[in-house]
Amino acid sequence: MLRTLAIATAALGAVACTSMGTTALASEPAAPAASQTTVTYTLPDLPYGYDALEGAVDAKTMEIHHGKHHAAYVNNLNAALASEPALAAEPLEALLAKISTLSPAIRNNGGGHYNHSLFWKLMAPAGQGGTPSAELAADIDATFGSMDAFKAEFNKAATGQFGSGWAWLVVTDEGLKITSTPNQDNPLMDVAAVKGAPVLAVDVWEHAYYLQYQNRRADYLKSWWDVVNWNEVNSLYADAK
Ligand SMILES: [Fe+2]
Repeated sequence: MLRTLAIATAALGAVACTSMGTTALASEPAAPAASQTTVTYTLPDLPYGYDALEGAVDAKTMEIHHGKHHAAYVNNLNAALASEPALAAEPLEALLAKISTLSPAIRNNGGGHYNHSLFWKLMAPAGQGGTPSAELAADIDATFGSMDAFKAEFNKAATGQFGSGWAWLVVTDEGLKITSTPNQDNPLMDVAAVKGAPVLAVDVWEHAYYLQYQNRRADYLKSWWDVVNWNEVNSLYADAK
């Protein structure tokens, strides 16, 4: 039985604010019974410097991507939840799971915050991301034929995503699957064609690569593999199995 993978709410920068002050959350927001309780999200720090991924992703792109784009998703999510105290009391993952019933603002910005919080952790400076675990490598070989075949299929999903979106490797009840989603949708959403626990993701919005690569998304993807943080992928995979 697949255990749904969740990024801890704390890792997403959720903070409970009450009339008594501000308290960092663990994995659950404060009880909805506290009617004055609201949850606000904050921009997580990058786990490395803006220039740490140079060669694959340039520093200016990282600075704008994190400090402007991701920050905007956080601010807009908080604005969308400001008038929805019941929703603001729920973990973000719970909102994503019923996103078809919620507003486009929560879908776009809740997805944007979740996706980017995950994405930053899935990258590391070249040479520091480790390698796939023996278990994950064996699963990739069994599912896709080889690591090279897996990367080719993943890149095909990423380059084939029309317009803005993401490509994913997910653990499902039927095993590993590659999928892509438009805009800021993700595989935790009830609207996703392939649902599962994300273990690897790449942002293929132009804001992720255009300064360095212009329209050459395939070149961005080729370099991006050099900064994949396999240590994080391995951890997510182990948690999802
Ligand atoms: Fe992005």
